[in-house]
Amino acid sequence: MSVILVEGGRRLSGAVTVQGAKNSVLPILAATVLSGGVCCVKGCPDLSDVDTAAQIIRHLGGEVRREGAALVVDTRCISRCEIPEELMRRMRSSVMFLGAILGRCGEAVCSHPGGCELGPRPIDLHLHALRTLGAEIREENGRLLCRGGALRGAEIFLHIPSVGATENAMLAACAAEGTTIISNAAREPEIVELQDFLRAMGACVQGAGSATVVVEGRKKLHGCVHRVRPDRIVAATYLCAAAASGGCIYLRRADYRQMAAVLCVLRQSGCDIRSDGCGIRIKSDGCLRAVPPVRTSPYPGFPTDDQAIMMAALLRSRGSTVFVENLFSDRYRHVPQLRKLGAQIRTEGQTAIVTGAEKLHGAAVQATDLRGGAALVVAGLQAEGVTQVDRIEHIERGYADIVGDLSGLGARIYREE
Ligand code: UD1
Repeated sequence: MSVILVEGGRRLSGAVTVQGAKNSVLPILAATVLSGGVCCVKGCPDLSDVDTAAQIIRHLGGEVRREGAALVVDTRCISRCEIPEELMRRMRSSVMFLGAILGRCGEAVCSHPGGCELGPRPIDLHLHALRTLGAEIREENGRLLCRGGALRGAEIFLHIPSVGATENAMLAACAAEGTTIISNAAREPEIVELQDFLRAMGACVQGAGSATVVVEGRKKLHGCVHRVRPDRIVAATYLCAAAASGGCIYLRRADYRQMAAVLCVLRQSGCDIRSDGCGIRIKSDGCLRAVPPVRTSPYPGFPTDDQAIMMAALLRSRGSTVFVENLFSDRYRHVPQLRKLGAQIRTEGQTAIVTGAEKLHGAAVQATDLRGGAALVVAGLQAEGVTQVDRIEHIERGYADIVGDLSGLGARIYREE
């Protein structure tokens, strides 16, 4: 079992290039199944979740090979429509293949997806969207059996703007006959990127980034080349690390337009942040102030994925900050771990109150989920002594090289087998 060791107390300086976005690349890899051609996905981060997506495509009969930073995916010879339970269990995004396989093959078989445990994560909206397009879906012995021989364009209303359900609906709608209108669609940047990718494959999609996405079904799509945009959550992680540790770092490729809510909170805490259009620079003296309540909400609000990371950044701030988690019911699992480092946090239901501690001390902690794990690293960077982070397989689902990136910025951080 590998662990990450962090020796806190070093200021960060230098520059790092932000990896491609995991949450963009996973639906994009599902979309390649629809293309029936060869797609080149450039700037594809080397992550275990990407590996799981590649294994799903291979299982379906496609070919996936890595060429440097690019993933070349050939889905001309897809011959299966079923995803093994073991691959479904590894990540939530495996469910994204449902819409794509259904669109390509007219049927699909899978089970309920796994992923980070953040409270109940139903897929009712995914199934509602596919059923509205005409798919017949039934559950037998824990397997979802889907038939969608003749998908037809339809009006789909999502009662929650779910990112995954919007993406699944877009994928299936590309193969449906006629026009699909998705209302109350998620507006996250990853939806816009999926639209760009689908258009490059010859699909007709409009409106991504707004609450209404319109898809015109097409009989035949084709391969394409796409460069994955930078990961806004990884960028936020490194900004929070520098904010809390002090120092000055530059994040190449980080896109400030997608990060307004997070940058606002960091500025309120006392950081100086500038963007030159090619990246973001942050300067911090490491003595942060508490900020007004941080409430997570769908984009463009404060991202739930950044909640744990921002909380870690504010553990030594002057004063108290209230966090309200509005998306997931059990997304404070990192809190007991942070307390082991001396953090003062009270939780009640969906609210957490962080009161800045004089100092943090190193301890042995366990990553409980992907972003919660990254939060432990951010906390460890400010703690006196050594913090040992266990269960780092959670972190490695979303960060291609958190240890290399942070040590390149001057942190004392190591990965040990
Ligand atoms: C995506 C992101 C994840 C992020 C989340 C919210 C990816 C791969 N993951 O996850 O990092 O934390 O958006 O920004 O892009 N819901 C239902 N029924 C459904 C689907 C969702 O009730 O069928 C609920 C969820 O339980 C949650 C809310 O809708 O409370 C939002 O979830 P959703 O946007 O679907 O998140 P994911 O797509 O799973």
